[in-house]
Amino acid sequence: MPTPTDESPATDAVETLDPADWDAMRALAHRAVDDGFNWLRSVRERPVWQPTPDAVLSRFHEPLPKGPQGAERAYEDFTQWILPYPMGNVHPRFWAWYMGNGTPLGAIGDFLAAIVNPNMGGGNHVANHVERQVVDWCKEIVGLPLSSGGLLVSGGSVANLVGLTVARNTAADCDVRAAGVRALPAPLGFYTSAEAHSSMQKSLELLGLGSTSLRKVPVTASFQIDVAALEQQIAADRQAGILPACVIGNAGTINTGAVDDLAALARLCKRQKLWFHVDGAIGAVVAIAPRHRHLVAGIEEADSVALDLHKWLHVPFEAGCALVRDHSAQRAAFALTPEYLEHAARGLASGPLWFSELGPQLSRGFRALKVWLSFKEHGLDKFGRLIDQNIAQAHELARLIALEPALEVMAPVVLNIVCFRYRRPGATEAQANAFNQELLIRLHESGIAAPSYTTLGGKYCLRAALANHRTRPEDLGILVQAVLKLGADLGASAR
Ligand SMILES: Cc1ncc(COP(=O)(O)O)c(C=O)c1O
Repeated sequence: MPTPTDESPATDAVETLDPADWDAMRALAHRAVDDGFNWLRSVRERPVWQPTPDAVLSRFHEPLPKGPQGAERAYEDFTQWILPYPMGNVHPRFWAWYMGNGTPLGAIGDFLAAIVNPNMGGGNHVANHVERQVVDWCKEIVGLPLSSGGLLVSGGSVANLVGLTVARNTAADCDVRAAGVRALPAPLGFYTSAEAHSSMQKSLELLGLGSTSLRKVPVTASFQIDVAALEQQIAADRQAGILPACVIGNAGTINTGAVDDLAALARLCKRQKLWFHVDGAIGAVVAIAPRHRHLVAGIEEADSVALDLHKWLHVPFEAGCALVRDHSAQRAAFALTPEYLEHAARGLASGPLWFSELGPQLSRGFRALKVWLSFKEHGLDKFGRLIDQNIAQAHELARLIALEPALEVMAPVVLNIVCFRYRRPGATEAQANAFNQELLIRLHESGIAAPSYTTLGGKYCLRAALANHRTRPEDLGILVQAVLKLGADLGASAR
């Protein structure tokens, strides 16, 4: 039998998706790497963001391509229609919402993961050991024991869903998997601050508990949960026949970066026998930052933690991690093994690592590879220093803003989020809000910088989340000057 080689021609009889000409495909791949890295290297020279022209958008209404266009043509279309119009989060002056920037080796990781292309649901293959390794590293980052359960997920939202599912089932005192939530002896109460991320509400809705089961506790002036008010709410709920189930602490809120007093919440949960979940999508990784790790002290007491690797650790999207201290409770919440997936003692279907039994997905991608490569490339000490660097940049930005009489800082800076706005003396709140909204849009359209926005106490703010490993000190001054100029122009045209 002839051995297949690179030169094996495709026959008419047998079709495959492999290239007829491997050398041409290899050349295309080399070009893609060159183009991609040139594009990344020169990112600073381009606008942060620009709208995609209508002529380009119209390209995405083509009929289903029934015949082949070929790899070259498909790649050309990518370079013409997609590459020039990025969201912008690879740029040094992108500080919108909360996103990482990716890394070159992370991108190679995605490519190599697709080459090996394992399905990470389970089975006996080495890629599962890579994920187990990476998940163990995440446990070490936040201080959870290695005996904890955990898996990689798409991001913080699903990591929260995983943690809250186990919390619900543990508190339920009935077989909620079999009987559903209608079998609950009493409505469950989940407690978090009014500043918590929307994924908490979404999770409780998906879990059939309803958004009213999420009790939003007021925050202090520093946007941390008011622990005394939390205790009162729990007591009042018990009186009213609600079964308190879980407290969700925030390690970095999306609006201002506030970190709840996690140690106090851990103590409260122990006293009250409640599940303690921490949404650490933003801030769990502060635990590796030498100058700021004290801010998240207490996270190691959590029953479950959601952390994001595609945010402050810059792993390319998507990559989050759900950790659950009680591995068997996590398994009990998710394991479901039909005949065709039963584990064997030996062979491909053997092995101890079946991540499909720890979360909602069966088929799963090899996200772990890009994380594994990134951690090995840089070492966690460097990621920790970068987190400290971003926090210092946020304080510096707040200082620069405070120096400008036309601007005001709108919330204390704890981590790396700075909320501020252009002052409009004499304007109504609605006018000041509309002014700042328009200013932000003009800033985006200028391509100079991309912060995002939030509303604090009814006041619309610009919001810069400095989770960017490419930001340099001079970028902060560029933002302030651009806001001053656009604000002055806008003020002049409003008069
Ligand atoms: C505090 C917080 N929790 C959860 C999430 C959801 O994470 P993801 O977008 O990765 O699903 C976010 C997203 O920004 C967040 O900021």
